Amino acid sequence: MHASLKRLGTDHIDLLQIHGYDVATPLDETLRALDDLVREGKVRYLGASNLAAWQLMKALGLSDSRNQSRFESLQAYYSIAGRDLEREVVPLLKDQNVGLMVWSPLAGGFLSGKFRRDAQGPEGSRRAAFDFPPVDRERAYNAIDVMDVIAKEQNASVARVALAWLLHQPHVTTVILGAKTEAQLEDNLAASELRLTPAQLEKLDAVSKLPPEYPGWMVERQNADRFPPAR
Ligand SMILES: NC(=O)c1ccc[n+]([C@@H]2O[C@H](COP(=O)([O-])OP(=O)(O)OC[C@H]3O[C@@H](n4cnc5c(N)ncnc54)[C@H](OP(=O)(O)O)[C@@H]3O)[C@@H](O)[C@H]2O)c1
Repeated sequence: MHASLKRLGTDHIDLLQIHGYDVATPLDETLRALDDLVREGKVRYLGASNLAAWQLMKALGLSDSRNQSRFESLQAYYSIAGRDLEREVVPLLKDQNVGLMVWSPLAGGFLSGKFRRDAQGPEGSRRAAFDFPPVDRERAYNAIDVMDVIAKEQNASVARVALAWLLHQPHVTTVILGAKTEAQLEDNLAASELRLTPAQLEKLDAVSKLPPEYPGWMVERQNADRFPPAR
């Protein structure tokens, strides 16, 4: 760590994130090592990435019970074409007050407007050669059809609408943009200024929402007339 800081030309890192869950290392050891770095002043805050809800909750529980620094943010894949995170992880983030940093917000370019039912994207576009992250194409094309209409209404690109949808989700703290050109970067940065109307948000939600899944639908049913304590 000391050598890394030296190479980076700094004496501390603001946010140190682990890239994923390592099945070969006890979680306890990882958490202790991370906490040591915070105590030594080499790191200010800890973050995790790509954890399942139970893994993140276990880590938070362990850190809290030992009075150690806990993960303050999760870096995770989330897009209008892949809302899987809403099942288990988003409720956990809200409950535990952990921030969400989104990666591949355009599903690696699939949601940039270049890919449609009848267009597989120009040669050289990353997604044409590298099929990642996985998307349910039919669901994604349906979302792209709706974003297309909204993009025209807003005089914006489909990419900008896809990013703006994320920024309108209250559980999203920040989004890591991917851009290959300056024009893409400018287009994407402008998403922070794009205000989607309630009607547009409703259409985007309807076309992209996840089908109900157990135990989510039972939890919702049992709590329909209950209100969580205010936070
Ligand atoms: N934690 C993790 O495991 C993990 C995994 C993956 C990524 N990440 C992080 O997330 C960051 C972003 O991921 P990403 O690059 O996959 O993001 P992305 O926004 O999903 O995809 C970016 C790609 O989409 C295309 N694009 C972007 N804006 C566009 C626009 N306005 N118009 C047309 N095309 C556009 C470009 O590729 P083309 O022009 O080639 O189509 C660009 O390279 C990465 O840099 C990395 O830091 C983290």
